[in-house]
Amino acid sequence: MVRAVRVAITGAAGQIGYALLPRLASGAVFGPDTRVSLNLLEITPALPALDGVVMELDDCAFPLLDEIVATDKPEVAFEGVNWALLVGAKPRGKGMERGDLIRENGPIFVGQGKALARAADDVRVLVVGNPANTNCLIAMTHASRAGVPGERFHAMMRLDQNRAKAQLASKAGVGVAAVTNMAIWGNHSATQFPDAENARINQKPCTEVIGHVSWLQNEFIQIVQQRGAAVIEARGQSSAASAANAAVDHVISMESETAADDWVSAGVLSDGSYGIEAGLIFSFPVRSDGKRCSIVEGVELSDFAREKIEATLAELKEEKAVVADLL
Ligand code: NAD
Ligand code: LMR
Repeated sequence: MVRAVRVAITGAAGQIGYALLPRLASGAVFGPDTRVSLNLLEITPALPALDGVVMELDDCAFPLLDEIVATDKPEVAFEGVNWALLVGAKPRGKGMERGDLIRENGPIFVGQGKALARAADDVRVLVVGNPANTNCLIAMTHASRAGVPGERFHAMMRLDQNRAKAQLASKAGVGVAAVTNMAIWGNHSATQFPDAENARINQKPCTEVIGHVSWLQNEFIQIVQQRGAAVIEARGQSSAASAANAAVDHVISMESETAADDWVSAGVLSDGSYGIEAGLIFSFPVRSDGKRCSIVEGVELSDFAREKIEATLAELKEEKAVVADLL
């Protein structure tokens, strides 16, 4: 059966948009039996650049691509969408933390949150623009007042999950597919906790396979926490191909059923699990049934893990206080 999805992408003329749109339009995300329409949102000065992106999408002659809507109006962009990928926001430069963007980018998510009232009843939202968790909190707050359930909102942590898997696979000398149960806890920031203690390699505890506790508790965590900054240092611009790829992975994971012996990481609305303040957008290990995702309960946390999780929780509470007037 052929189905159809409509996807909104904000910041569609930006770096991530450029890497993401062909993946969505080609069928790589929703599969060969799903027709795709794209609603592209940009700020007014970027509309000429967006025209060029639309020309290129036309020139790809994607058989599954139906309609393209290009607009500078959020209410038009979100009309009837099943997925909204909120990418449009300023990226950080060298020497900045993602949280430094909060006062500049946060207000974007107030109007967009409200405009999500126009979306389809089953809309799911992935916030990519940084600081992703707190921007997601802002969008979710305004959209839920307009009737969109908070559980539909996710902040992207998949890039961190992918980075962590790649590091563990390389250290263990295995392919990335051998690494499962990679939980990232907390904020998409330098305080995030990539949890090697619960990760598995070929179904065995990662700590047993790698064995190098000091590396796992120090270098590994720092590499993952600082990977975004390392890419900016090397490239002069923030990650784009890997970020777009992570957004694709996230949507695919949420559209399918997660294996019973695995999980994925996503910033979701905390319900108080693991003692995390309810109402924050916090990254947990989650499982999807293809429509809804839920926090995996009962993951064991050591004192070391709890200390790391407290630190990232404290940062998210601080970010929430900084945007109190936007909530
Ligand atoms: P970019 O500057 O290349 O593109 C951003 C685009 O957003 C621009 O075209 C800009 O015109 C547009 N934009 C700005 N305000 C907008 C608004 N109100 N409505 C619609 N569009 C708007 O940046 P990029 O490299 O594509 O990164 C986008 C965001 O994603 C940044 O905040 C970056 O830090 C973040 N990011 C997050 C992750 C993650 O893992 N969560 C990974 C990489 C990048
Ligand atoms: C990343 O993790 O690569 C993005 O959040 C961009 C950044 O600012 O690091």
